[in-house]
Amino acid sequence: MPQFSTAQVHAGEARDAAHGARVTPIYLTAGFEFDSFAHAEGRFGGEEPGYTYSRSGNPTTAALERRVAALEGGRDAIAVGSGQAALTVALLALVQSGDHVLSAQSVYSGTRGLFENGLRRLGIDIEFVDDPTDLAEWRRRLRPNTRALFGESIANPGNDVLDIAGIAAVARENGIPLIVDNTLATPYLLRPGDFGADIVVHSASKYLGGHGSTLGGVVVDQGSYDWAASPFAHLTGPDEWLEGASYVDAHGAGAYTAFARSVVASLFGPVLSPLNAFLIQQGIETLSLRVQRQSDSALAVARWLEAQPEVVSVDYAGLPSHPSFPLAQRYLPRGQGAVLGFTLGGGAAAAERFYDAVQLLSRMTHIGDVRSLILHPASTTHAHLPGDVRERTGIGAGLLRLSVGLEDADDLIEDLSRGLAAVAEADVTISDVDATAVVAAAGR
Ligand SMILES: Cc1ncc(COP(=O)(O)O)c(C=O)c1O
Repeated sequence: MPQFSTAQVHAGEARDAAHGARVTPIYLTAGFEFDSFAHAEGRFGGEEPGYTYSRSGNPTTAALERRVAALEGGRDAIAVGSGQAALTVALLALVQSGDHVLSAQSVYSGTRGLFENGLRRLGIDIEFVDDPTDLAEWRRRLRPNTRALFGESIANPGNDVLDIAGIAAVARENGIPLIVDNTLATPYLLRPGDFGADIVVHSASKYLGGHGSTLGGVVVDQGSYDWAASPFAHLTGPDEWLEGASYVDAHGAGAYTAFARSVVASLFGPVLSPLNAFLIQQGIETLSLRVQRQSDSALAVARWLEAQPEVVSVDYAGLPSHPSFPLAQRYLPRGQGAVLGFTLGGGAAAAERFYDAVQLLSRMTHIGDVRSLILHPASTTHAHLPGDVRERTGIGAGLLRLSVGLEDADDLIEDLSRGLAAVAEADVTISDVDATAVVAAAGR
């Protein structure tokens, strides 16, 4: 098994038999031509290997799928149009109306929205575990209809690190899969499957693509969960499309991905363009270099921020002050990622001053770019959340989120100093403290 950096440039590639192109070609085609009536019938029936229509499979996208599956140590993968699409496909290939899913409390705001607005409307009940480090709480809140557990390996933006092995043990005891969103860690820093996660999800728009140019998402089946012995009747029971056979009969250990591809992704239709699959695959070729450097710079920036008097707390799992520091030492020894939050004592007024003063950081909602980005979650991505939920998930009025890019750390610190100088100039420091900001920060 080649090591990570070797795999990121070679895994999954398909040699181009027609012209010998060294880089996986972009097969930008809606469909694939059949040689004859029988050939078409065979392709649709699965007896003839090959593609039919790019909504259900494409050679450029397939190369990306093989590469991400290899890097995660998984069995197979399906790539779709965004991280949100990946989460949707991962869950809808498992659960249906009447089912229950347990999630860690601290998850990306879009994921929370998908759970609370999207999936609940379909009759899928999603509950949040208040303290994801408390395995007894996960056990206590399981119901007979709980069909999956979910969490983010590093939560966006709070940096809580998931105890994957502990939660995977709870899932295993109850015969259900654990799904982990590994977007912020990437397989370079952490492979959730090595600790028992059964399904790994990525927003490939972030570090995998890495350059802020395209959206994408990937769902990886680690191959650890026994679909044949599962409570998922849509995979184990007879299926009309399979002439009465089940997905397990027809696809064996690949049953979940086959269902996710041919029923959920193909019919709901959140397709990834082959052009975007190419860009993401090219991004992956430098993943380890980027993530190591970005993670090292994030640690330097986090340490610097923590020493500033205007900053009341820094959410970065690489700092001993963060509650997840011990988990980070276990799960993220190479680095703790490049997204961090910090809370200004001056609350919303200070955050606004700071935000408007920076010159190098891009004011944007996005993470994982080669450029460093800054966001004020309470007034943007999390503005729609009720105040108590914002507080519980650590989104205070003075919180700013940084996604550290590839610039020199000294230049980033100089820009952050500019932000702090603007706060000091306006005299919105700890004396004008916004109580919510401090309470939320203290609760982290
Ligand atoms: C952890 C996490 N998961 C999923 C998503 C959604 O990804 P996308 O924006 O590609 O739909 C994001 C986006 O920020 C994220 O941070």
